[in-house]
Amino acid sequence: MRKEVTVDCPATVANLVCGFDILGMALQDPCDRITMRLREEPGIVINHTDGYDLPTEPAKNVAGAALLDMLQAIPEPVGFEVEITKNIKPGSGLGSSAASSAGAVVAANQLLGNRFSKNDLVRFAMAGEKLASGVKHADNIAPCIMGGVTLIRSIFPLDIVALKAPPMFVTVVHPQIEVRTSDARQILRKEVLLKNAIRQWGNIAGLVAGLLQEDYDLIGRSLEDVIIEPVRSILIPGFDEVKSGSREAGALGGGISGSGPSIFMLSKTHETALAVEKLMADIYLRIGIDYKTYVTTLRQEAL
Ligand code: HSE
Repeated sequence: MRKEVTVDCPATVANLVCGFDILGMALQDPCDRITMRLREEPGIVINHTDGYDLPTEPAKNVAGAALLDMLQAIPEPVGFEVEITKNIKPGSGLGSSAASSAGAVVAANQLLGNRFSKNDLVRFAMAGEKLASGVKHADNIAPCIMGGVTLIRSIFPLDIVALKAPPMFVTVVHPQIEVRTSDARQILRKEVLLKNAIRQWGNIAGLVAGLLQEDYDLIGRSLEDVIIEPVRSILIPGFDEVKSGSREAGALGGGISGSGPSIFMLSKTHETALAVEKLMADIYLRIGIDYKTYVTTLRQEAL
């Protein structure tokens, strides 16, 4: 059995605009790195090699919470030493907590001879999401572990559908403000109007059909959110401008990445993705907010 493994756990874009809590996709870049070793003694030891000052006590750390959940399903005493290097900034909306939780259980599973299924791993990793945001959701965890675009049809019981998707370029801008997922969930209305629900499920179905049929125009038309975005976008300076400007620059569409503040845009070509990046940079330079951009692609490989 291997004594040490290293996994690079990708950033993810949850919701994909219209699919709040049910759709997500994995990105090629950025990635966190997790190195895990089996320990002689039972228990979990966590070390960070980055400057984010995240908790190391297992019950307060998202990777630790996921591993503690996994340990409950392991009959023999085992111990892990975890080294985490985060490149995905916590609170960015790019699935930072999911990368840590998912990466930890995937690495541990490899050390244990791959005894757990992907669905088991998603279940364990959701304990990390619960710690981070107060609720279990799998729209970052599932694509992080499985790659590509995933549909979470249900969490209880877990029903994940991997969706075939055409190649796409993704431009992300991360304005350097922090939006806590728990806060971004708190502000949402608990009820929706039927007419908005109809529009939203039309878009979700359109997006899924567009991905499967490789119909880029349909994908673009379906990237519309009439329920969550109008509330959350208020927390993100420059959002409307980035969105309308990106479409004018040729992007298929996009919106808030997860709970924000990052904004993502999908494009068919690298050239368009670069033009969108320039536009995003110009907007935040003008507004005077520090930002970071990524031009990357959909990551198809599983973790
Ligand atoms: N679906 C979650 C939300 C993702 O939007 O709150 C958080 O990254």
